[in-house]
Amino acid sequence: DKGNHRHFMQKEIYEQPVVVAQTLRSYLRRMDNQIAMPDMDFDLGGVKRITIVACGTSFYAGLVAKYWIEKFARVPVDIDVASEFRYREPVLEAGGLALFISQSGETADTLAALRHARAEGQIIAVVVNVPTSSMAREADLLLPTHAGPEIGVASTKAFTCQLAVLAALAANLARAKGKLTAEEEADIVWHLSEAPAALNQALARDGQIEAMAHLIAPARDVLYLGRGPDYPMALEGALKLKEISYIHAEGYAAGEMKHGPIALIDDAVPVIVIAPSGPLFEKTVSNMAEVQARGGKVVLISDADGIAIAGEGCMATIEMPQVHPLIAPLVYAVPVQLLAYHVAVAKGTDVDQPRNLAKSVTVE
Ligand code: F6R
Repeated sequence: DKGNHRHFMQKEIYEQPVVVAQTLRSYLRRMDNQIAMPDMDFDLGGVKRITIVACGTSFYAGLVAKYWIEKFARVPVDIDVASEFRYREPVLEAGGLALFISQSGETADTLAALRHARAEGQIIAVVVNVPTSSMAREADLLLPTHAGPEIGVASTKAFTCQLAVLAALAANLARAKGKLTAEEEADIVWHLSEAPAALNQALARDGQIEAMAHLIAPARDVLYLGRGPDYPMALEGALKLKEISYIHAEGYAAGEMKHGPIALIDDAVPVIVIAPSGPLFEKTVSNMAEVQARGGKVVLISDADGIAIAGEGCMATIEMPQVHPLIAPLVYAVPVQLLAYHVAVAKGTDVDQPRNLAKSVTVE
């Protein structure tokens, strides 16, 4: 039932504050200001290397997690798309933790990768949305998302719930590694519990995003740029746009622009820049200026501080709330989803059932 929404995708985008809160409830002990994890029959503090494997949007959640885990817990993370991992003969040392991320828990390549990792002696952790799925059943450590059934083919609420669980996991690992003081942990718990409110603030931009969809809809190509954890968000933005609006879109690390893709820039290729203010902001702004100097039209997604510094000269800006870097990827997922959604609606494509796509990819 779509309720009063036109599409399941729209409904699921709007459910995010509620389902992220629902998911976080299992991973935060607000009273004690602590992260909570299900019981584990292995020593998390002893984990020396993590291998993350997933496909599509779930893979991008994993990429964000790599930034978080390496930053907070200082544990090295390898990450692969499942179809590559299976066949590249990855080097997996005994006692390593392999983490699989999947909405459905049935994606054929991810499931085969899980079984391969198991055969290679890895501890198997899974972040899945379907608790009865094959991956959930085969895991040593099940980290469920509580997004509820996701009907729209393009993943939205499952993605932000994955990010919520992965942020909690990164913090928990940091604590197990002695890299997090009680105060820092309390700070993370507080910021994570603010995420649903920040998601609501991001959703409040819907009308503005809808009104600017006509700037993107005529484009043949679109570039998305971001740095750090916003680089995977650029990849996710590009994937959402291509799968439901059929516009060719690419996500790039902002600093990679000048190594090739800048040759594409002209006034017909909108460039969407995801850049919350923070230590990397100025760097991204200088990449943005390179685009503008070549006649490129920029849409800047940032917060009030970022827009005050760099908003001038942009074709459009989308203002997000000022948030802690740990929850920024969750919050910035919203404008990226809404933009793809409204562009697709403007183009008249089948938003919930894009051509050539299936919800659950159970064949290789
Ligand atoms: C994109 C999308 C797909 C899935 C991918 C993995 O919007 O939905 O890229 O993310 O097929 O699916 P799961 O997470 O079920 O393993």
